[in-house]
Amino acid sequence: MKKGYFGDFGGQFVPELLMPPLLELETVLNEVVRTDDFRARLAGELRDYVGRPSALTRCPTLSERTGVDIWLKREDLNHSGSHKINNTIGQGLLTKMIGKKVLMAETGAGQHGVATATAAARFGLSCVVFMGALDVERQSHNVHRMKLLGAEVVAVESGTRTLKDAINAALRYWIAEQRSAHYCFGTAAGPHPFPELVHEFQAVISREARAQFLERAGRLPHAVVACVGGGSNAIGMFHEFLPDRGVRLIGVEAGGSGEPGCFNSAPLNLGAPGVLHGMHTQLLQTKEGQILPSHSIAPGLDYPGVGPEHSALQASGRAEYGLVNDAQALAAFQALTLSEGILPALESCHALAWVLENAAALKGQSVIVCLSGRGDKDLDIVEQNLG
Ligand SMILES: Cc1ncc(COP(=O)(O)O)c(C=O)c1O
Repeated sequence: MKKGYFGDFGGQFVPELLMPPLLELETVLNEVVRTDDFRARLAGELRDYVGRPSALTRCPTLSERTGVDIWLKREDLNHSGSHKINNTIGQGLLTKMIGKKVLMAETGAGQHGVATATAAARFGLSCVVFMGALDVERQSHNVHRMKLLGAEVVAVESGTRTLKDAINAALRYWIAEQRSAHYCFGTAAGPHPFPELVHEFQAVISREARAQFLERAGRLPHAVVACVGGGSNAIGMFHEFLPDRGVRLIGVEAGGSGEPGCFNSAPLNLGAPGVLHGMHTQLLQTKEGQILPSHSIAPGLDYPGVGPEHSALQASGRAEYGLVNDAQALAAFQALTLSEGILPALESCHALAWVLENAAALKGQSVIVCLSGRGDKDLDIVEQNLG
């Protein structure tokens, strides 16, 4: 396989000026992150600060109602409320170990920004977060949290003033500040080596889930299911099961309102190959190659691209990618809240909704759903839609 590629996807489609920090990061990945010393320190942080291992919870009521044996990998129980912290604690630790002083990031919904600001505070680093100006208005609660954690939040006024513009601004800033700053990319996307780096830090999800399920059930599940924005919780949920050919790997994209022609966030289902944010991958785009606006009721899924490893897993047939619309995700939110007493993030609701929608075909099978985050951040959206 070509370096930095997953099948036909991946690569480093970046301006020359971004190559030095990317090459430096590749060296850091091989010579720092993959050492026993780093792994031992990270394991300590994950245990004592993040609160890992996270629980594997069986859903008795939903299982009985659907006939599907449904389990949840509880990333919502992590410190700061989602799987994003696995990645930011890893990247924060590497930043400290290589002696850089600034942790910088992009954020859409604000979850990754909050997780980055949390890691920066933990490791005594300064923190700069780029966020589309529209998202700054929509997610003021998370902006407040980031500021309380000591981060400087930069509102990006260009383009559609959302996540893709925040990533462009962050990449420009990194070019200028590469000697002092590490760019803590938030998902398993972007130019090489970010997809590999983030995969490395999120693999803990399936490492734990596989061992926990084997211990509790004495066998492997029939399927694991995770929502896909950029693809980090899904790649983390898939990793340890990749060699288990009998376990179905199912990623779930956001179909928006579901009406024909609506904006959605489903590049694997509805996109075509192209280049964005330094990677060759499936993208939402016009016939002429212009990037289309994306949309989902779940702010964290609202991205027109996807990590290149998912494009390759889809092309090879090892993973399947479903589509769930906003109303189905809201129904899953209600189902889990009322039947199991767990308020899930709207992103994670897409993964659960796929299981509920496909229950008839899954009857009698065991399924682990990655509950990537908790729903507290989404209560305003839920209230607006469900009253
Ligand atoms: C709770 C939660 N789940 C999922 C996602 C989607 O990101 P990814 O596909 O990288 O896991 C986000 C992004 O903000 C999120 O906050």
